[in-house]
Order: sequence, then structure tokens, then C-alpha cells
Amino acid sequence: MKKYLSPSMLSADFTKVGEQLKIIENAGNEMLHVDIMDGMFVPSISFGMPVVESIRPCTDMIFDVHMMVVDPERYIEVVRKSGADIISIHVEACKNIIDTLLKIRETGAKPAIAINPETPMDTLRPYLQYVDEVVVMSVHPGFGGQSFIEESFERICELDRMRKDLGLSFAIEVDGGIKLDNVEKVLKCGADIIVAGSAVFKDDIADNVRKFNEIISRY
Ligand code: DX5
Ligand code: ZN
Repeated sequence: MKKYLSPSMLSADFTKVGEQLKIIENAGNEMLHVDIMDGMFVPSISFGMPVVESIRPCTDMIFDVHMMVVDPERYIEVVRKSGADIISIHVEACKNIIDTLLKIRETGAKPAIAINPETPMDTLRPYLQYVDEVVVMSVHPGFGGQSFIEESFERICELDRMRKDLGLSFAIEVDGGIKLDNVEKVLKCGADIIVAGSAVFKDDIADNVRKFNEIISRY
């Protein structure tokens, strides 16, 4: 399966976000992680659809939109219209999960499901056949710059085993606390998409992107 780095725009400098996205794309990167927060599912509020829409023309990168939003079914069409290519909803935040995943696919986007660190992996079983990706949260969602929760390694391995046992081919995305010094261990557990916010948007962004992608390309 193709592997990706998905830099989280949450850590961008919003006075020059367009410029920073270009730097990432010109460094050869193909995906961007876009965190939408509602202040209900998570304590913080980030940005919404108008921001996604306004950055869409800046780049051709795949927009991987992570909805940390209660009842995300309310926003699927408008999020897709604003430019999302992949839309992830949280298993803890949605009442009609299967219908919402089907609705995402109907819009032409790829459906994904995200899971918080304390939610048992088994909770995902009924939904795995409907998704193209699972987002394993390796921090408590809501803020960039937190430390990776060590138990996440085993959870990624568990999901990789479930994927093999069920004969499915969804991608495993891991989100939170990933740095250059722990990314290899995440990849070894079976991750396909690596989200990194604070580790990409600091110092030399292009150099960070190249270093991550060089490691990812070995898996
Ligand atoms: C956290 C967000 C993450 C975050 C990752 O709630 O979902 O995508 O931006 O940032 P880092 O890599 O700094 O943990
Ligand atoms: Zn995220």
C-alpha cells in the first residue's frame, strides 16, 4: 500500500499558511491533514469550512479532513464541497455511523473513521468494511504538540491484525505526537499514513518533510 506523510495544518503559521503549504508540496509531499474542531467533541475550536475552501486553490495535495465534531453527518456535503478528499468522523461522535460513511462515499470523498485512545479497538468492527481508512489517535484529540501515548503502538498492531484477519485493505493513519524519532516504530506496527503537526511546522519545514518522507519510503 502507498504510504503518506500528512502534515497537520493545525501547527501552521496562519499569517502565511498558503506559502507554507507550497513549501510542503514543493518538497514532494502529497497529502495534508486538516483538523476541524467544534469546541464540543474536543475542548478547542480550530477552523471550519471557509478556511478549507480558501486554501483549496493553494495546493493539489490530497485534503485529509479530520472532523473532531459532534454529529458530523450535518456537515458532510459542505465539507466535501469545501475541498475534502478524505473525510474522517469519530466513532465516539456520530449516531448513524454507517449511514454517514455511506454519505461520505456518495459525495465522492473517501470515508474514514477515527478512534480515541481510550476507546476499545473492537468498537470499530462493525464499520471497517465501509471505510478506506482508520485514524488511530495517539494523543487525546484537541491540541497539537502533545506527547505520543505509548499504548498506541499496541493498538496500531491490533488494528493491523484485525485488518489481516478480516481480509480488508483500509489504510491505517496514526495521528498525534509523531516525531522523527518515533515514526519508524509507528510504521513497523503497520501504519500507512503518518500525521505530524508540530514536528513538521518548526524550523526548516521542507527539510522536515523530506526527512519524514525518506523514512516512510523505506516501509
Ligand atoms: C490533535 C489533532 C492532530 C494534531 C497533531 O487533536 O487531531 O492532528 O494536529 O499534531 P502533533 O503532531 O503536534 O501531535
Ligand atoms: Zn488530526
